[in-house]
Amino acid sequence: MTHILNSSRFLHGGDYNPEQWLDNPDIIDRDFILFQQAKINTFTLGIFSWAKLEPEEGVYDFEWLDDIFDRVEKQNGNIILATPSGARPRWMSTKYPEILRTNEEGQKLLFGERHNHCFSSPIYRKKTQEINRQLANRYGHRKSLILWHISNEFGGECHCELCQTAFRRWMQHKYKTIDNLNKLYWSSFWSHQYNTWEEVHSPSPLGDTTSMSLNLDWKRFVTDQTIDFYENEIKPLREITPNIPITTNFMGGNPPYSDVHQDLDYQKFAKHVDIISWDSYPNWSNDYESTTELAMKTALMNDVMRSLKQNTYLIMESTPSQVNWHPFNKSKRPGMHEMGSLQQIAHGANAVLYFQLHQSRGSSEMFHGAVVTNSLSDQTRTFKDVSKVGKNLEELQPVVDTEYQQPKVAIVFDYDNMWALSDAKNYSDETKNYWGTIQDHYSVFWHNNISVDIISTEDDLSPYTLIIDPMHFMMSQTFMAKIEKYVSSGGHIVGTYMTGIVDPNYLAYMGGWPETLQNIYGLSYVETDTLYPTQNNAINWEGDFFNIHNYADLYELKGAKQLALYVDDFYADAAALTENNFGAGTAFMISARTNRDFLNKFYQMLINKFDLYNIDIPVEDINENINIQIRQDDAQKYFFITNYDDSEQTIVFNDNYIDMLSGNSLINNVTMSPYQVIVARKA
Ligand code: GLA
Ligand code: ZN
Repeated sequence: MTHILNSSRFLHGGDYNPEQWLDNPDIIDRDFILFQQAKINTFTLGIFSWAKLEPEEGVYDFEWLDDIFDRVEKQNGNIILATPSGARPRWMSTKYPEILRTNEEGQKLLFGERHNHCFSSPIYRKKTQEINRQLANRYGHRKSLILWHISNEFGGECHCELCQTAFRRWMQHKYKTIDNLNKLYWSSFWSHQYNTWEEVHSPSPLGDTTSMSLNLDWKRFVTDQTIDFYENEIKPLREITPNIPITTNFMGGNPPYSDVHQDLDYQKFAKHVDIISWDSYPNWSNDYESTTELAMKTALMNDVMRSLKQNTYLIMESTPSQVNWHPFNKSKRPGMHEMGSLQQIAHGANAVLYFQLHQSRGSSEMFHGAVVTNSLSDQTRTFKDVSKVGKNLEELQPVVDTEYQQPKVAIVFDYDNMWALSDAKNYSDETKNYWGTIQDHYSVFWHNNISVDIISTEDDLSPYTLIIDPMHFMMSQTFMAKIEKYVSSGGHIVGTYMTGIVDPNYLAYMGGWPETLQNIYGLSYVETDTLYPTQNNAINWEGDFFNIHNYADLYELKGAKQLALYVDDFYADAAALTENNFGAGTAFMISARTNRDFLNKFYQMLINKFDLYNIDIPVEDINENINIQIRQDDAQKYFFITNYDDSEQTIVFNDNYIDMLSGNSLINNVTMSPYQVIVARKA
């Protein structure tokens, strides 16, 4: 898996901004002693360093960076070199105001913050290429350079005239004629017909916000324009350093405070990077969910990222202790840093990198956790935690070249669908909760130690025994045909309420539910009941009663078998869970939003029926706070066993294993301390 990177070890390190300390060479000297102590082997340099690299237009200063390269190489370290475009120097905005962003109300923004440049600006595009060319020429041949890190956390949008022009071109390319645009936008509604392409404008609170087609196209355009900007940035790097791979750090969405990140279609972006990297900031020990629940959500985010390229990925950023931007910036409990770091390795990551290696002394992130804090001490709890993870990663060296165990189960996750659904003027904005629904379905498998891929509608379905396709509101006919083929040739699918309502143009399917879906599911869709938050109904499944809330779909049977029925309301006794044999496969429809108790029973049935259990699990009778993930190569399986509970847990091994971290033999009963990780391999 690691052939992409010229490094045969786990990467341990992170963002380092020595340019903040150039007046204090002693600090930098000491840093490098401390980094070695903490087993830091990788340095991400140059993020936000533009003003130091090019203090005046065309005047470059690389000596300080040369020095850091030398120091890293003396320690046999790796360098991930960032292009500095995530924040531009002040002089550039003063001289070329065109590069500043314009907001959706048409106001030009002032210089400030970061991640705020116009993606269309020819000047900014030229400037980024110039500095990147300088960096590639100067550092491309350095033996420590293993990876380019493009910009930082791409995101946001710009509504300036340059971007409007680009959007118009994009629209014209997509729709070809104004007539076609008008038809597909249903623009006779409210007299919104377009007469010329010049009339196309991005969504704005001062103009259109309610055209779902426009909103969705704008989102798609923003992804395309960001990728186009990125492709422009990397041109000199591909040309000068064709053998150095390229990544850009994606954002994770940070459970529990936010869903999966929503700005950009990462499934699309992933095709343009050589290796996935992302920034992971779960808020461990928050006050409204258990550590185990948050671990499940974090596992899912890791699986999202792993699945983007079906390969190893890098944790480009994580915090060694706390962040400075959660609503409450809690430090990690003893053992948690190791737990969270190794969870990522367990899911297939080959790097644990931090923001940041050295804390800044002032400005907005001065209180953010760091390996070396302003105390400059190697005696902090954080420093010791980080050193321990460094040691763990060395002990896990045999795992570097392994793969994550191929899942038999996949959940479909689609960006267009997410955007379309969140914009649907129907249902309830308070309860749509697409991502929460994916989490609910995923959690059953995670708790049963069954691995799951999170796939796009473009991915191959054939490796999977079971596909879960929740709330697929905007579904293309191409995807319907794909699942038709998948199920008829022996695959099994689970669909839910709110499926197959609109096409990718955001036009309703006419004449009832699309025929392909009717055939697959043996149903025809009738209507959706949106419940108020305090309202409930229930479903009766062979005498077991399960509460349902938020949404209840009604279907007419067209050959499907009903397994469970609604209990109350005008649809009492209508189908709430159905099964349809279609070709060699099966299609299940869960018509209503249930709690996890129902999903447990339902998926337990499918796990048994379709043989999804993982027979390799080395321990018996584990409770739901213990989780097992597997990495493997031809010779060996490595079981990452984690106790996410806040108290001790005893597990029972069914054979003789060895813990690669402690070196202990694992035989029969083994007691795990809170948050402990064991990496077991056969003795
Ligand atoms: C993001 C950024 C970093 C830093 C961290 C703080 O992930 O990429 O530059 O601001 O957040 O957690
Ligand atoms: Zn712009």
